[in-house]
Amino acid sequence: MAPPLPPPPFPPRTMEANPSLLETIGVGDLVLLDPLSEASVVQNLKERFEHQEIYTYIGNVVISMNPYQPLPIYSSETVEEYRNCNFFALKPHIYAIADDAYRSLRDRDKDQCILITGESGAGKTEASKQVMSYVAAVCGKGEEVNQVKEQLLKSNPVLEAFGNAKTIRNDNSSRFGKYMDVEFNFKGEPLGGVISNYLLEKSRVVRHIKGERNFHIFYQLLAGGSDQLLEELKLARDCVHYRYLNRDSTSLPGMDDAANFRIIQDAMQVIGFSPEEVQALLEVTAVVLKLGNVQLAGQFKASGMESCSIQETQVLQEICQLISLQESVLEQALCSRTVEAKKEKVVMSLSVSQGYYGRDALAKNIYNRLFNWLVNRINESIKVDTSERRKVMGVLDIYGFEIFQDNSFEQFVINYCNEKLQQVFILMTLKEEQEEYVREGIKWTPVEFFDNSIICSLIEENNGGILAMLDEECLRPGVVNEETFLAKLDQKFARHKHYESKATQNARRIMDASLGSTCFRIHHYAGKVTYNVSGFVEKNNDLLFRDLSQAMWKAGHKLLCSFFPEGDPQKASLRRPPTAGSQFKASVTTLMKNLYSKNPNYIRCIKPNDNKKPFMFTEELVQMQVRYLGLLENVRVRRAGYAYRQGYESCLERYKMLCKQTWPKWTGAARDGVEVLLTSLLIPPEELAYGRTKIFIRTPSTVFDLEDRRRVRVSELATLVQKIYRGWKCRTHYQLMRKSQIIISAWFRGHAQRNQYKQMKRSVLVIQAYCRGWKIRKLLRELEHEKRLSQASALIAAYWKGYKTRKNYRKNFRSVASVTLANFIYRRMVQKFFLRLKNNLPPMLVMDRTWPAAPYKFLEDTNEELKKIFYPWKCKKYRDQLTPQRKVVLQDKLCASELFKDKKTLYAKSLPQPFQGEYLDLQKNPKYKTLQATAKGKLVLADTVKKVNRTNGKAVVQLFLLTKDHIILADPKAAQPKTVISLSDITSISVTRFSDGFFVLHLNKTSAVGTKGDFLLISDHLIEVITRLHQTLLETTGKTLHLQVADEFSTQFNKGSIAIRIVETAEKKGTVPICKKKGSRTMEVLVH
Ligand SMILES: Nc1ncnc2c1ncn2[C@@H]1O[C@H](COP(=O)(O)OP(=O)(O)OP(=O)(O)O)[C@@H](O)[C@H]1O
Ligand SMILES: [Mg+2]
Repeated sequence: MAPPLPPPPFPPRTMEANPSLLETIGVGDLVLLDPLSEASVVQNLKERFEHQEIYTYIGNVVISMNPYQPLPIYSSETVEEYRNCNFFALKPHIYAIADDAYRSLRDRDKDQCILITGESGAGKTEASKQVMSYVAAVCGKGEEVNQVKEQLLKSNPVLEAFGNAKTIRNDNSSRFGKYMDVEFNFKGEPLGGVISNYLLEKSRVVRHIKGERNFHIFYQLLAGGSDQLLEELKLARDCVHYRYLNRDSTSLPGMDDAANFRIIQDAMQVIGFSPEEVQALLEVTAVVLKLGNVQLAGQFKASGMESCSIQETQVLQEICQLISLQESVLEQALCSRTVEAKKEKVVMSLSVSQGYYGRDALAKNIYNRLFNWLVNRINESIKVDTSERRKVMGVLDIYGFEIFQDNSFEQFVINYCNEKLQQVFILMTLKEEQEEYVREGIKWTPVEFFDNSIICSLIEENNGGILAMLDEECLRPGVVNEETFLAKLDQKFARHKHYESKATQNARRIMDASLGSTCFRIHHYAGKVTYNVSGFVEKNNDLLFRDLSQAMWKAGHKLLCSFFPEGDPQKASLRRPPTAGSQFKASVTTLMKNLYSKNPNYIRCIKPNDNKKPFMFTEELVQMQVRYLGLLENVRVRRAGYAYRQGYESCLERYKMLCKQTWPKWTGAARDGVEVLLTSLLIPPEELAYGRTKIFIRTPSTVFDLEDRRRVRVSELATLVQKIYRGWKCRTHYQLMRKSQIIISAWFRGHAQRNQYKQMKRSVLVIQAYCRGWKIRKLLRELEHEKRLSQASALIAAYWKGYKTRKNYRKNFRSVASVTLANFIYRRMVQKFFLRLKNNLPPMLVMDRTWPAAPYKFLEDTNEELKKIFYPWKCKKYRDQLTPQRKVVLQDKLCASELFKDKKTLYAKSLPQPFQGEYLDLQKNPKYKTLQATAKGKLVLADTVKKVNRTNGKAVVQLFLLTKDHIILADPKAAQPKTVISLSDITSISVTRFSDGFFVLHLNKTSAVGTKGDFLLISDHLIEVITRLHQTLLETTGKTLHLQVADEFSTQFNKGSIAIRIVETAEKKGTVPICKKKGSRTMEVLVH
């Protein structure tokens, strides 16, 4: 926010010099008016009003003229303009007084009340709304604050719907008095509030004059309620159906009832009404409306007494359904009355007029209680919960002074209330002010003004006031009527200056046709009002037949039932409830007390014309209001007096910062302090008056100048405090940072030094280690060098000594000594070699050919020779120990080896088999006698063979005998020689490479046997057979056997030569060799 501008130099602006008030149309503040008279005041107001200046000041009292037309002076820009601005700095405006009140409340901690007074239609309610909306606009923001504001503002339309009505004077006339306390916290944010309501004009529910309307809510409900809602409430939409609405033209130009209904529905929701509560509220409203339609019919009983009954039961039925009550109960309550006489209860039937009276009383009572409930319910929502200290701003919008043609009890109490408010005004502005000057010893010329306390006493005095006398009359046993009441008044106030009646006029011999015999007249501050006493007693009694309240209590409708606690028979008390007059008086007294405790701010509303016409100024009407509002006296007092006063202590406390001597502390008396202070500020002495306890300042501008200076000074001081605080904060912050920095750098340096030290230590250790290592190594090298030197020198010395010794010895020994020595050594070595060989000879096994290696190279040849000697020697040893038989066997095997070794696979298998020669056991078997004889002791071998048939290859078992001359083949069964082959006829033998026993005996073709061809035989002992044949052949003929080992050979059959081809097959036990003839010239032998 920009700092406020510095104050203007003193001397301060005088009132006359205040441009904002002078530069406007007419005079903005009536205090400045010259010449001052009633006419000039009215003229000034008129001039301003005609220029659309509806607000005028008298000091800090705002006069507001109703423009009857919306003006563009309530915008948010205007709010901003008046916000925190001097009261007199801008044009007069209602916002200025609202701002002043709000700032006094917020900054000076003074509870405020804004009293808005004026006639009906003068614009009080509008003014109160403007004040509220201004305060709402400037009093802080925030979700919670906004909600409170919303609730406070929304209470208006709801209360207006139920409490306002169109009257002849005002289309939206408040028919109740309203005082609203808005509570704020120390920051000036609204917390909530309390609403008090005064005397609702309930008679309007049942009756209103032509051209007026009932309360708005009835029309709004019918126009704006949805079809469903109306159905639920059993209501018809058209107003003509309802007698209480007078079946008159109901819609108002410029007022949309349906839209207003929606507004109040929304408002109730915002305030916090539950949907059930709203429904109940509307149900009760509907019941009131419907009660007006209950019609009674009269009849006479047999006793001649008049009685009444319900004419049409449907309305009753509907009402009872709405409130859940038995029809008969309500019917009885409406048509009869229970009277207690001598402790006996008697039921009396009512006449038709009594019945209607009861019905209307019930409707009025229900509506009145409904309205009270509504106010309480709103209060519940807006009440403040916190216990923190609150500041209060009260706004009073109460019905204005009423002077009708026919004035009744209501006008009487309303005017009484206005009289009291005027008293507040007089007391607080005029009387109190003047009295204070006297009290404070200020030089003062008294100003004449009318003190209305005499009228207030006339009405309210406890002993003998009009209200007290009315109460007395109501309570008095016996026949009570208004005439006796009036007679008593006449008697009591016969000489009262402000009371008049026919009787007192007659006594003073005054002829006045305007005063009826049933009337009395009071000279109110605002004018003379004639009241008609008829109805006073009844209205003051405000009685509702107990039967009706009991019936309502019985209703199942919770809300309605709660309105009539006195209907509970258990709690029924016979004590009369307080009268309407005394109730009203009590609430006015409370209100007055409340107002006296606060700082008052006045808005005096003036109605410019009776026709609700925009900017029409009826001079007489305004003049009358100027007169009865006491504006002239107000201006006079204001001019003569001082605008501002304050106790010395609080004044000094507030402004002491403006003077060096008094700031920061004044040690002397407060009065002296103020004097020093104001003198130092060069305020002209005529502006000031020093009272006993207070300082008085004449013009408001001086006060505002003081305030301006204070604001500037406070902001300077705040800047100073801020400066010092910031300096202190920065200094402490800097010191803290410096301290921290030192600690951190100390830590860091320590840490860095420690690290560096560790690093150095490590380096030193490494260098040390290297250095020590190097030194040690150097030492070691030196020592080794020394050692080598000593060894070398020892060696050299040894050689040298050896050399010397040998040289010396050589003289003594022969020259062959070395050879002898070498030979000796060689001999020792050879000796050792032989000894070791002897002890480690290889095993004597013939097959073992191992031999140890030579230990020295020069022995290798010897060793090889020894090896060659050793093996034949080992074999010889082996042979020597063999038996002759064994020798024969081995010779046979040797022969076989010469024939077959490495040629036929069968040989290796045959090695372990000893040659038996005799396999047939010829001698033992007699069967072979012939064969044995044939062999004639020359038998070499006897066995069985298989002879292969040359034609088909099939093998046939044959006995095979080898003698020294022949080979004999015989049939095994016959055991007779079949074929005898002379050994000399055998040219060669062919065998295969494989392990089979197949062999071919190739015969000489010229021999007798050979003509048939070669023999193909298979023997199980092939090696033995052929070896023996070879040996025998060699032995007998001296020829060696021609043995052919081949895979293919040719044989000679009688038909010619046949090629035998040996084919190797996979091994098949017992089946091979198999001979197969392949064509006529080839035979295949399958072997494996
Ligand atoms: N400042 C204003 N600007 C425009 N119109 C206004 C202003 N003040 C009042 N009016 C008009 O005058 C009418 C009556 O005003 P308002 O209801 O405030 O009177 P009142 O003093 O409260 O009367 P009552 O005592 O009957 O309640 C309003 O409905 C509005 O039309
Ligand atoms: Mg009003």
